[in-house]
Amino acid sequence: MELNGCYDAIKRIHERIDAMNLKYYIETYGCQMNEHDSEKLAGILEECGYTAAQSKEDADLILFNTCCVREHAELRTFGNVGFTKELKQNNPRLIIGVCGCMMQQKEAAQKLYRRFPFVDMVFGTHELKNFPILLERALNEQRVFEITDIDGEVIEGLPVKRVPGFSTFVNIMYGCNNFCTYCIVPYVRGRERSRRPEDIVNEVRKVVSEGFGEITLLGQNVNSYCSDGVNFPKLLKMVNEVEGLKRLRFMTSHPKDLSDELIDAMAELDKVCKHIHLPVQSGSDRILQLMNRKYTIEHYMGLVDKLRAKIENVEITTDIIVGFPGETEEDFEETCELVRKVGYSNAYTFAYSPRQGTKAAAMQDQIPLEEKKRRLNLLNSVLAETLPAGNEKYIGHIGDILVEGVDHRGKPLLFGKLSNFKMVYVEGPEDLIGSIVKVKVDGLRFNSLFGHIIH
Ligand code: SAH
Ligand code: SF4
Ligand code: F3S
Repeated sequence: MELNGCYDAIKRIHERIDAMNLKYYIETYGCQMNEHDSEKLAGILEECGYTAAQSKEDADLILFNTCCVREHAELRTFGNVGFTKELKQNNPRLIIGVCGCMMQQKEAAQKLYRRFPFVDMVFGTHELKNFPILLERALNEQRVFEITDIDGEVIEGLPVKRVPGFSTFVNIMYGCNNFCTYCIVPYVRGRERSRRPEDIVNEVRKVVSEGFGEITLLGQNVNSYCSDGVNFPKLLKMVNEVEGLKRLRFMTSHPKDLSDELIDAMAELDKVCKHIHLPVQSGSDRILQLMNRKYTIEHYMGLVDKLRAKIENVEITTDIIVGFPGETEEDFEETCELVRKVGYSNAYTFAYSPRQGTKAAAMQDQIPLEEKKRRLNLLNSVLAETLPAGNEKYIGHIGDILVEGVDHRGKPLLFGKLSNFKMVYVEGPEDLIGSIVKVKVDGLRFNSLFGHIIH
């Protein structure tokens, strides 16, 4: 069995550190994929006998799980890893590890390994199952540098320590085959591969039995999930049947693969939330082609219309990049126009960041940083104009929110999301956190809604 080596090492570490009361701290950057990987690292560490530390100062092992999707993410990592030098001076037995997407890029990993001699472990995204073996080496005071260039495999059976709460993640697939020309993810996460449906359903059953009511199925492009003849809409049906599950979300959807079958499944399945994150990236067909996105704006708008026709109160969120190489003022204007037309309930907007090794980084006509920033600000103001209209239509609406916490800006209010991801603030007791309550929307609050609980 593939994981024997992993579990043997866990056992040896457990025997060795038993009674030493060692603590770990994991700092995670990037997307949900990384957050969930950190839960697996934490799971392994707890099996080894480590417990969670409240802060880095308190830890005997610090792991940085890194992201490299944009330059900003990399700069932050270098800065924050650099700061731990001092902690290491105060606590010589402290182990410092850096892993994740940025470390899967050999050059960046080597640079970090050389610049920070106090870093004990550097390892890439394909090493999760080897992590205990690598940790054992670090405990033996050997410096670890491990990056494997495999396209990726599906590992089942790793321990997971989930962040407590009502909502959690389940991977349905790993990697990406799309090679959007700006994107580093396929290079650092390997080729697309799907987990077997029964493994996914069993994991969902398990986490529901642990008390999680909301699950987000994770993949870089969930619409192309396929395993044992089961496609994504069929998988949704299987998961929807799990008893005790209350809400089912998924991300991310690629517009080129969003099928009518999936839209119908979203409309029909009671637990599937009426929200879709559908990154458009640009409003210009010319730029979409340069990005290798494989759809046109006409196709995208067709999807938006179908979603709205079939799913009551469906809300759409998106990702947009401005300043892609060669983007003209007209191309950018088309993006602003699209945003006005669609009426997103939220959009994550980014200035294009060249990633070494991607096609777009080598393209002519790179846009100056100042111009990218100008376009980003403009786009954000267009978005801000479109938000209130999208919210006003919910005044008087009755729906369920999952209470997530208390907001302390002004009078303390509970907040939670409707099935369609719209945030609603209500007055109520804190012990409602983690439960689903029925609310009626009375008005707008910042970019969200406020209302009251009804019984
Ligand atoms: N698989 C998902 C998420 C990819 S990363 C998807 O396909 O949507 C999340 C977002 O980061 C992307 O949607 C894109 O908008 C943004 N992004 C990716 N690479 C980027 C780059 N080089 N510069 C700026 N933004 C980028
Ligand atoms: Fe990157 Fe495109 Fe894959 Fe998303 S679909 S991870 S943007 S290459
Ligand atoms: Fe996610 Fe960043 Fe990696 S966005 S997949 S953590 S490069």
